Amino acid sequence: MTPIREMGRLSMSDDRREIVRVESIVKDFRPGLGIRAKRVLHGVSFSVREGEIFGFVGPNGAGKTTTLKILMGLIRATGGSARILGREVGDAAYRAHIGFLPENPYFYAFLSAREILRFYARLSGVEGREVEARVEALIDQVGLSDAADARLGTYSKGMLQRVGIAQALIHDPQVVFLDEPMSGLDPIGRKDIRDIILRLKSEGRTVFMNTHILNDVEMICDRVAIIVKGRIRYEGPIRDFLKEDELRSDIVLADLPEPAAQAIARDFTARVQTVGEQVEVQVREGQVRPLLEAALEAGAEVLSVTPNRISLERVFLEAVERGEAAEVAPDSEVEPAP
Ligand SMILES: Nc1ncnc2c1ncn2[C@@H]1O[C@H](COP(=O)(O)OP(=O)(O)OP(=O)(O)O)[C@@H](O)[C@H]1O
Ligand SMILES: [Mg+2]
Repeated sequence: MTPIREMGRLSMSDDRREIVRVESIVKDFRPGLGIRAKRVLHGVSFSVREGEIFGFVGPNGAGKTTTLKILMGLIRATGGSARILGREVGDAAYRAHIGFLPENPYFYAFLSAREILRFYARLSGVEGREVEARVEALIDQVGLSDAADARLGTYSKGMLQRVGIAQALIHDPQVVFLDEPMSGLDPIGRKDIRDIILRLKSEGRTVFMNTHILNDVEMICDRVAIIVKGRIRYEGPIRDFLKEDELRSDIVLADLPEPAAQAIARDFTARVQTVGEQVEVQVREGQVRPLLEAALEAGAEVLSVTPNRISLERVFLEAVERGEAAEVAPDSEVEPAP
């Protein structure tokens, strides 16, 4: 398939102001004296535009958190440059305008959500008389009203994640950086967090989020960059991913006899996969009807027909596979031990 960057079609959002610009970032970690440095970011470049939800997507260990730490000024890049709101990331000037949810936020177990949010409000310079209003509004917004005075030690993972998001928003930032905001949440928790993120966008904020949950990415992100082993494999609008597979549908069948499954795979050049009792078939859109007819004829029951569902997943898996293939990169070790 064509990498998104090479599709050569300008999208509307290309005119928007760049909020984050990352250029050729390299990061080496030196585990200890005399031990080879390990390169984990190999010239990463991408940009985030005003008002969009940007998904920074990649498998475990790809370098998402490392990139975000560089953006937050928590660690320094070995090379390259990163700018937020037009300022170099070393510069403190932009910090008042950004919010940050770390990967595993830690809060004191003996404080309540209300107390910790008051603390963060004062810490981030919210004016004295505005603190209460701000804290109450956020408690309501992230859905913690019923538990706001309970100790955080009694909170579930999803509730802590909400506290983390409220903390990131306490000073009304223009840009919000979230490291795996949905990780460890149940489907309801994930939906709530998605809704919060969509609300941030509707308020005109820009959201950068690290994640490997593709379903969430498909649902809410405007643009994505896929990073694999420290290299960007794709960057582009999410609708271009979806368009790629416009003509595909996923069909889930039950009670499809094995010979019929084989015949369907052959006759329709469809991808057929048996999952437990069910058979999942991926087929081009134009062939949905004849395929369904053949399946029904063979005695199968049709459980669902879903257009486009796994498109991003396919792009993602291909990017990962290509990343693995490129693994023998000569520059992955940067320096011999002395
Ligand atoms: N302080 C460090 N010292 C040495 N290596 C590190 C350090 N921090 C991260 N790494 C390595 O850098 C690579 C990228 O890690 P990073 O945490 O950025 O990945 P990630 O994409 O956020 O993964 P995950 O989805 O698991 O959160 C990994 O191989 C990791 O082991
Ligand atoms: Mg991470």
